Amino acid sequence: MEDKVSRLYNDLFKIEKRTKRFRLYPIHKQLSLPDNQDIYDFLIKHFNLNESKSILDAGCGVGYGSLKMAQSTPANVLGISISPLEIHQARQNLIQLGNENCSFDILSFEDIPKNSFDTIICVESLKHAIPIHSSVHSLMDGLRLNGRLIVVDDFYCGSTVSQKPEQKLIEDWRLEKLIDIQDLPAGTTIDITNYVSSKSILSSRLKLLGLVMLKSFVSESYTDIFRGGIYLDILYTQKKMNYMILEIKKHK
Ligand SMILES: C[S@@+](CC[C@H](N)C(=O)[O-])C[C@H]1O[C@@H](n2cnc3c(N)ncnc32)[C@H](O)[C@@H]1O
Repeated sequence: MEDKVSRLYNDLFKIEKRTKRFRLYPIHKQLSLPDNQDIYDFLIKHFNLNESKSILDAGCGVGYGSLKMAQSTPANVLGISISPLEIHQARQNLIQLGNENCSFDILSFEDIPKNSFDTIICVESLKHAIPIHSSVHSLMDGLRLNGRLIVVDDFYCGSTVSQKPEQKLIEDWRLEKLIDIQDLPAGTTIDITNYVSSKSILSSRLKLLGLVMLKSFVSESYTDIFRGGIYLDILYTQKKMNYMILEIKKHK
């Protein structure tokens, strides 16, 4: 399963590499937060990340957020991803920016060293981690006492589970399920769904149609990546998703 996620992000990187001029880019939703803040800027301010000594950016993509945190805080920042191509690019980005308090590693959530970080950040990375429950436990184990795990992600909040293909996307992705894991302290949440820009259902349906036509020309893993994103847009339009920040503190 991990191989599948790694392949997915390697494939996504190959697509982004073709289209992006700059190689340091976010792989998360572009929000309309006040003052044009990116979600990482928001986290740095809201959670006083400049008081952290060690931050793990768990699922760091090409290092966009890790480097932002390394620039704005004195903390030692480690960015990890399961995709070797992303980490290679993140290291190139680090060389260009020259932050001494930042490093990158190819590492799965399951292999995070225990008791090592004050703060662990997961921006849109946890929902892809398989199996999700044991990943949450590994992340909690990676925290020092009184550390906190901060998860930013899409959480399913609809009442009915649809039988359509998007069901794959929403299985297990209810907030209550995630924080009700035995032994896990209850978390606090901030709902920032209002800052997600809404897409029209028509444009999403048209994109799906476009994908069907593309199917005969490109590999299935490429179309899978985009299909997941389009279903997510549709669920947002149907008000079945919330974009949330979840903070869980480690007390023992
Ligand atoms: C949507 S991207 C978000 C990247 C980054 N947080 C950002 O906002 O730019 C998800 C990231 O999580 C990583 N990821 C997913 N599952 C993982 C796992 N089990 N272990 C380590 N990294 C994982 C992917 O490789 C990818 O870098």
